[in-house]
Amino acid sequence: MMENASIALIGGTGFYRFLDDSTDVEVDTPYGKPSAPISIAEVAGRRVAFLPRHGRNHDFLPSELPYRANLWALKQLGVRQVVAFNTVGSLQREYRKGDFVLVDQFVDRTWGRPDSYFSGGDTSAHISSAYPYCERMRGLAYETLTGLGTRVHRNGTVVVIQGPRFSTAAESKWFSGQGWHLVNMTQFPEVVLARELELCYSNVSYITDYDVAAKEVAGDEESDVVSHAGVLKAFNANSEHVLDMVRGLVGALPEDVDCACRHALDGAIV
Ligand code: ADE
Repeated sequence: MMENASIALIGGTGFYRFLDDSTDVEVDTPYGKPSAPISIAEVAGRRVAFLPRHGRNHDFLPSELPYRANLWALKQLGVRQVVAFNTVGSLQREYRKGDFVLVDQFVDRTWGRPDSYFSGGDTSAHISSAYPYCERMRGLAYETLTGLGTRVHRNGTVVVIQGPRFSTAAESKWFSGQGWHLVNMTQFPEVVLARELELCYSNVSYITDYDVAAKEVAGDEESDVVSHAGVLKAFNANSEHVLDMVRGLVGALPEDVDCACRHALDGAIV
């Protein structure tokens, strides 16, 4: 019998392993294979699936990730709730390096990424992405993470850039000036694909840098312009803390629950 899980964690840059004593599952989908074999284990009595978004050795660039295969594979295993972890750069002074953010909005600056399960088929659909993240999970995540005593922001707007390069100084200043809080390369199209599959999807971001306008955003704090090595260093320096927080969060999720996300296609199919 195929292993199954009800909750999934998607890991970001630096976050390539999560579960001990897990079983690896190779899944195939109509969109090809996911980024890596999916490992499944019990966490706090729940069956949890872990998928490192970039592959186990950071094999995929943000614009070349198999986003559709990843979400499809998780759903195929029985997953209904996804916690998506990302490292992000901060664009605003009150969002400090080392803080967690529960992202609730995105601005899409990517192009050419397959971003719908309905393209090329017989059926068209137009889902709402007004509030693209699961509000129920976000509320629960806020309560859990504050209860665990970490600094966490209840809201955040992330601008998703195409990558793989980081932003120019001019782009970074523009993003900050718009009032957007965070910058990242992979939150789109993952979040909208999850919605098309009627999955509950929440984001937990961890701030690793102050992007390019580092001096303006960081204030007095020592800070370099963002680099891949800097992101990894900031994540690795606190990875045990991050993993503890994520474990606490996964353990607080209900095994199964009805939610508006499960009805995302009502009225959306043409
Ligand atoms: N991921 C982490 N920090 C980032 C940044 N500054 N820009 C884009 N993606 C990031």
